[in-house]
Amino acid sequence: MTTSGDTPYAVSLDQVSKSYGEVTALEQVSWGFRTGSFTAIMGPSGSGKSTFLHCASGLDRPTNGSVRLGGVDMGRLREAELTRLRRERIGFVFQGYNLMPSMSVERNITLPLSLGGRKVDRQWLTEIVHRVGMAGRLGHLPARLSGGQQQRVAVARALVTRPEIVFADEPTAALDPRSAGHVLKLLREAVDEMGRTVVLVTHDPVAAAWADSVVFLGGGRIVDELTAPSAEAVLARWDSL
Ligand SMILES: Nc1ncnc2c1ncn2[C@@H]1O[C@H](COP(=O)(O)OP(=O)(O)O)[C@@H](O)[C@H]1O
Ligand SMILES: [Mg+2]
Repeated sequence: MTTSGDTPYAVSLDQVSKSYGEVTALEQVSWGFRTGSFTAIMGPSGSGKSTFLHCASGLDRPTNGSVRLGGVDMGRLREAELTRLRRERIGFVFQGYNLMPSMSVERNITLPLSLGGRKVDRQWLTEIVHRVGMAGRLGHLPARLSGGQQQRVAVARALVTRPEIVFADEPTAALDPRSAGHVLKLLREAVDEMGRTVVLVTHDPVAAAWADSVVFLGGGRIVDELTAPSAEAVLARWDSL
């Protein structure tokens, strides 16, 4: 997949810092997420994982430094432009699914398109709905679905716009291992079969092992990286930090 601008990265951060009053949540972090890669972010609670994800995805603005999506410096965008860019070019999956309870599965999945006044590509919708195993449930409300099913709807919603990058913040933390495996497989397929770029924040070495590489955060800095991770290797590295 190509990105706008002359860069191999879907998203890159340059010297990004983020402070909340006295607290420095991120300190001069520089990193690039290669287009078509699957990266896991790990680190203890409070190490800055969510802050990193929020800054990298344009949900929040860094105190210092810059973040680029393809060739676009997100810090230069006005709020409305940033909102549009997020909606059209970035996908999000959260721990709590964040589905609209009064909307059907189909309306939830197509929400990023309808919010942007864009037409639904029925063929693409059909494909992703099949991939996430929700074809028979399009008319259901989220409350009628299990947690694993709701998260699969959220993955479909994240992919419906064909985003350049998908950010997932602990998407499997509330799921049983089998449902978690299903969601992680979908993220893996988004990379391998759809050419997307995926960034996954997780506490779980088994989840991290689905990624191509694991980035370890500590105290708001990147402290280590592990490529081609196995769950055992992730755990061993974690214990040595
Ligand atoms: N909105 C906020 N206001 C104040 N402090 C915050 C806020 N968000 C995060 N922090 C602080 O920044 C640090 C990193 O938090 P966070 O990015 O949530 O870490 P993690 O996701 O790894 O648990 C913590 O010390 C946390 O208390
Ligand atoms: Mg967090």
